Amino acid sequence: MLQMLSGGSVKTENGRRILLLGSTGKMGRALAAASAPEDELICHNSRSFDAADLAQVRRIIEECRPDMVLNTVAFLGIDPCEREPDKAFRINTLYPKFLAECSARFGFVLAHFSTDAVFSDKEEGAYCETDAPCPVNIYGFTKFGGDCFVRALAPGHYLFRLSLLFGPTDRQTQFVERMLARIRGGEKSLKIADDIIFSPGYSQDIAAAVMQLIKQQAPFGLYHLANSGTTSLYGLLGRIVEDLGCDVRLERGSHRDFPAIGRKNTRTPIVSGKIPPLRPWEEAVDDYCRLIAEDWRK
Ligand SMILES: NC(=O)c1ccc[n+]([C@@H]2O[C@H](COP(=O)([O-])OP(=O)(O)OC[C@H]3O[C@@H](n4cnc5c(N)ncnc54)[C@H](OP(=O)(O)O)[C@@H]3O)[C@@H](O)[C@H]2O)c1
Repeated sequence: MLQMLSGGSVKTENGRRILLLGSTGKMGRALAAASAPEDELICHNSRSFDAADLAQVRRIIEECRPDMVLNTVAFLGIDPCEREPDKAFRINTLYPKFLAECSARFGFVLAHFSTDAVFSDKEEGAYCETDAPCPVNIYGFTKFGGDCFVRALAPGHYLFRLSLLFGPTDRQTQFVERMLARIRGGEKSLKIADDIIFSPGYSQDIAAAVMQLIKQQAPFGLYHLANSGTTSLYGLLGRIVEDLGCDVRLERGSHRDFPAIGRKNTRTPIVSGKIPPLRPWEEAVDDYCRLIAEDWRK
């Protein structure tokens, strides 16, 4: 039986003990749901620890003695990171560095999640694993810092770089949920940037791919994970509102219509040169909308 515990517990006979950090987030939820029944899952989130407090992180690892750590904790968002660069550095760079050091010391495999925001804009095509990052904002810089330490210090690591995620979540902090909340709040017209281009990822498809790579003991290293194809924020939200039958009119805008403190990426599609492509993002959106349709109509 899958155990979702907060804190240490007894290891199952055949499975691994997996410490999932960030279990309540969009990616964390999907990973918990996709984990193998024989594995023991120990879950932590901001209610049980603070990733900026490395003594707490160490205590959790020492108590749990995991075979693998899945880390989805991050300080997300361009403007929040510009406003609080110190926090961004602690959570996105120093904390994964510490996890990587612990991975070497305690002998666990570290699976860490990163972002297409480590790249600058690409004129054409998509970034693959061999392309060199060149971040343009503090979020991207601090996440890239974390990536570098994970790659340099964790002998057994998976580094999964994702693009914009959609999928079930309780939070309303990310793009899709913020827009759906505005529609639910009665807004009948929304202007959405049509010039921010990326490779959307359905959290459940990403989680299934992650678990598959881990299960088949794929070589350690960096993997780009996203559904196939690219779209804009306008294109993604357009498909979602159409699928859900929302009573709203979307207007094509530009990222320049939405001033931000930090510099925004506008074109960062990602693709993997290592693993077969995931299904097209449109199919994944349709599945996601079928999943949330009942809640949406309430
Ligand atoms: N979401 C995207 O569009 C996207 C795109 C590209 C890459 N990524 C990457 O994917 C990963 C997962 O993102 P996500 O969308 O799942 O994030 P999320 O939904 O915001 O979840 C973040 C998780 O981290 C926990 N957390 C946040 N700050 C913490 C702290 N100081 N101490 C302990 N726990 C803390 C949260 O706990 P609480 O729920 O208790 O706050 C939550 O469980 C991140 O590495 C991110 O950079 C995400």
